[in-house]
Amino acid sequence: MRVLVVDHPLVAHKLTVLRDKDTPSPVFRQLTEELVTLLAYEATRNVRVEPVNIETPVTAAVGTGLVKPTPLVVPILRAGLGMLEGMTRLVPTAEVGFLGMARNEETLEAITYAERLPDDLTGRQVFVLDPMLATGGTLREAIKFLFKRGAAEIVCICLLGAPEGLSVLQEELAEANVTIVLASIDERLDENAYIVPGLGDAGDRLYGVVN
Ligand code: URA
Repeated sequence: MRVLVVDHPLVAHKLTVLRDKDTPSPVFRQLTEELVTLLAYEATRNVRVEPVNIETPVTAAVGTGLVKPTPLVVPILRAGLGMLEGMTRLVPTAEVGFLGMARNEETLEAITYAERLPDDLTGRQVFVLDPMLATGGTLREAIKFLFKRGAAEIVCICLLGAPEGLSVLQEELAEANVTIVLASIDERLDENAYIVPGLGDAGDRLYGVVN
């Protein structure tokens, strides 16, 4: 498993505005998309490509095309949905699947409540979108699920991570072909498993509170 924290002044700036508790939902949504596009630029550095023959108006040339099947992007519902547009803006031909996961607020265990993915992911490159890597439980279950379906490589794009969650993933997935791309690794989790300093509940800030 590899961890990549994207060190860029625009990433730091956009993240700072996201963290601000006074940033309203419409701005939060817009900035999340912009931030994900910047993270996705780094996260797709090893996207699979092949040479393609083209004709420019001047001559024949060899260029670069995405290998088929194109990458599969999997936002984890609900909050990962807020990252989808930012990702598909960069890779418009990507396929999109969905994984609905939530954490039980008492046990903090991840449960899968919805799934819409190809049955067979053999050999596929998969990009998982989940804004908050807190305890690591959700991402660990999602990654295991996708490898069981045959995925060859998984790149997770997160806005924030906590050291505790990264350790959980590292313990179980040390040898796996997994890369975690983040805008920041924060200090710690609080007693409710929120990331500190964090940005609060990403789903609520994107879409409002749903009970
Ligand atoms: N999920 C969130 O939305 N925020 C956190 O800080 C932790 C988990």
